[in-house]
Amino acid sequence: MINSRFQPDEWKITETRFEPENGRDSESLFAMGNGMMGLRANFEEKYSGDTLQGTYVAGVYYPDKTVVGWWKNGYPDYFAKVPNAPSWTGIEVTVDGESLDLAVCKVKSFRRILNMKEGVLTRTFTAVMTSGRTVEVTACRFLSMSEPETAALSYSVKITGGEGLLVMKPCLSADVHNEDANYGEKFWENESAESDGPRAVVTAQTRKTAFVVATAMENVFYADGKQVKVMAVHEANRDFASSTFEHRYHSGEVFEVRKYVAVLSSLNHPAEGISKNAMKRASEAALKGFDAMLESHKNAWNEKWERGDIIIKGDIEAQQGIRFNIFQLNQTYTGEDPRLNIGPKGFTGEKYGGSTYWDTEAFVFPFYLSTSDTHVARNLLLYRYKQLGRAIENAGKLGFKGGAALYPMVTMNGEECHNEWEITFEEIHRNGAIAFAIYNYIRHTGDKNYLTEYGLEVLVAISRFWAQRCNWSEEKKKYVILGVTGPNEYENNVNNNWYTNTLATWTLKYTSDSLEWLRSTSPVKFNSVVTRTHLDPDNELKHWKEIIQNMYLPVHRDRGIFLQQDGYMDKENLTVGDLDPAERPLNQHWSWDRILRSVFIKQADVLQGIYLFEEEFDEETIRRNFEFYEPRCVHESSLSPSIHSILASRLHDTDSAYKLYLRTARLDLDDYNREVKDGLHVTSMAGTWLSIVEGFGGMRIRNDRVCFNPVIPPAWESYSFMVRFRNNPMRVEVNGKKVTVINLSEDNIPVAVYGKETVLGPGAKENFEK
Ligand code: BGC
Repeated sequence: MINSRFQPDEWKITETRFEPENGRDSESLFAMGNGMMGLRANFEEKYSGDTLQGTYVAGVYYPDKTVVGWWKNGYPDYFAKVPNAPSWTGIEVTVDGESLDLAVCKVKSFRRILNMKEGVLTRTFTAVMTSGRTVEVTACRFLSMSEPETAALSYSVKITGGEGLLVMKPCLSADVHNEDANYGEKFWENESAESDGPRAVVTAQTRKTAFVVATAMENVFYADGKQVKVMAVHEANRDFASSTFEHRYHSGEVFEVRKYVAVLSSLNHPAEGISKNAMKRASEAALKGFDAMLESHKNAWNEKWERGDIIIKGDIEAQQGIRFNIFQLNQTYTGEDPRLNIGPKGFTGEKYGGSTYWDTEAFVFPFYLSTSDTHVARNLLLYRYKQLGRAIENAGKLGFKGGAALYPMVTMNGEECHNEWEITFEEIHRNGAIAFAIYNYIRHTGDKNYLTEYGLEVLVAISRFWAQRCNWSEEKKKYVILGVTGPNEYENNVNNNWYTNTLATWTLKYTSDSLEWLRSTSPVKFNSVVTRTHLDPDNELKHWKEIIQNMYLPVHRDRGIFLQQDGYMDKENLTVGDLDPAERPLNQHWSWDRILRSVFIKQADVLQGIYLFEEEFDEETIRRNFEFYEPRCVHESSLSPSIHSILASRLHDTDSAYKLYLRTARLDLDDYNREVKDGLHVTSMAGTWLSIVEGFGGMRIRNDRVCFNPVIPPAWESYSFMVRFRNNPMRVEVNGKKVTVINLSEDNIPVAVYGKETVLGPGAKENFEK
């Protein structure tokens, strides 16, 4: 195990030292969000040391002009990025004319605590100014989970060692930039600032996309715990607004500013009047007050934990790790708005531009499906449904016709943003993950209406893509899919990637079966789907059937395994054990050319497919494939070990499952990959959740029943998790001796534990033994 910077604690992440060398890491790790907005843990006071300033507003993006070495037809013109937005945390502090700046003064003590139960970040420190004055600060902030366009922070200062002048200047600033801007451009324009009594606002508009964001504050000031009316000087210059409070301080007196913030964007409000509106909202927050706001915020978090907590006994590091992951997932996405999605880094950094990847459907979707109300997962599906037109356009640009859809590899508004041909044009398996999520949603929720109202339109369009993307091989007398990149990005332009071919065939079959089901159960609805999709039911379904029956799926007969792609066995047959540990990770030590020719797999590929369609394979087939591919996989995508861990649990190999789980459990907390400074791996955090619930817990949905097949890692005394089936919540508790399932709903829940089928009535609690 890596030495953690953080003390083990069930609910808290605590940093006990000021370590400027880890400054950016901590800014990512202590980032906060509420689905609507988020920010890195930048200090309130001035900081002249190394920092990545980051404030983000969900759904607001800037189309950053693409940079490529050699342009290829079909490349997108831009990469959509969630820009660093106007920052609202700033409180400049000067003591006797000297700026409080932790990079300059002597830091005597420093402590930062993220309370994950309550969603509150607290920082305390003692600093000695060059004048010799000692300054003690306590700063506390939260982004309201109950009123997601508002936030509050409290900042208190105590100076000892004499009397003098303290100046506190809460501010808002639109003078921000993105480090990852392709051409060093600023993403904002038309900045303006105004103040009105105790309130101020800064408004800015994204260039090109014209999203308007108004960030307002109202400040309330306290001296020794009592609210005081102080004369404040308000300043509002184009991209900066502040209120300046000056006080004569005496040794030991405590001064506090409470800053109430509202961030409104034109995504949700008319741009006209948005500044005034934001100021009004900041005032309303101030009127409600810090404690009342905090109370409703905590209650909202409490509800989230009641729905989706995982409790691990006997391993406090594991407990802290999984709660950190669940916390981050809930901070990133709350599922109330189908225009929003989950970027791989959430609101914790600029990498990946905050855009949507296949990560959503392949890894994150099951988390929200099992821990939130049905509408949350449905909104994630609707996000893609709303972008269907664009996906059809994307496919059209590549030469596909007749309503075929290729969803983008990376997107914000439905347009493709990625610009490497081997991914943009070839990593087409993402289309299959989107189709699978529809199936997964329906088997979990039973909401078949989704299929008729929305899902079939998406499925038909994706099926049309597959039907055109494959071709008949006279040589093989089979349909083949040529020139693709599977999930394993360490091979490009391969033929017949087993995962892609399997997913394509499955999508065609699921779409055909769903259409036939609808035709027989509701001809009216079937006709409506036909009309909406311009489907030619006889000819198109006939063609799909022909493909389903004749798709080429590469196998290696002697080894009894599925072949990752046609040429895989031509490679030099090495395993990870043959690698010099000093050369890992390969992507930092080997040339790309060497990686591409090697046998080493970046992330689950064949095994990703076996994970999705596990019930179609017997245990021995799963074992042979696992035993072949796991030793060849370097897991250089954080998304990978969790899938392998789930399969190891399925194979009753709890030791391997646990080892693989450990590679994801505290990935960011302990910064395994030395890159947490760029932001957290939010989407792969869902993988850790999966490796507990679907891996150790063995949760599956089979034949309209929720099934569990739990194992327990030897290091744990017990664990329990909360999940929903058909929107009915239940708790599953596992210890070395028995499994207890508690139905927390008012409905019957059909379950099977270790193969024993039963129906749990409302409130029922039943024990199962292996
Ligand atoms: C992985 C992709 C993933 C992306 C964003 C890459 O390293 O190979 O599968 O979509 O990261 O998480």
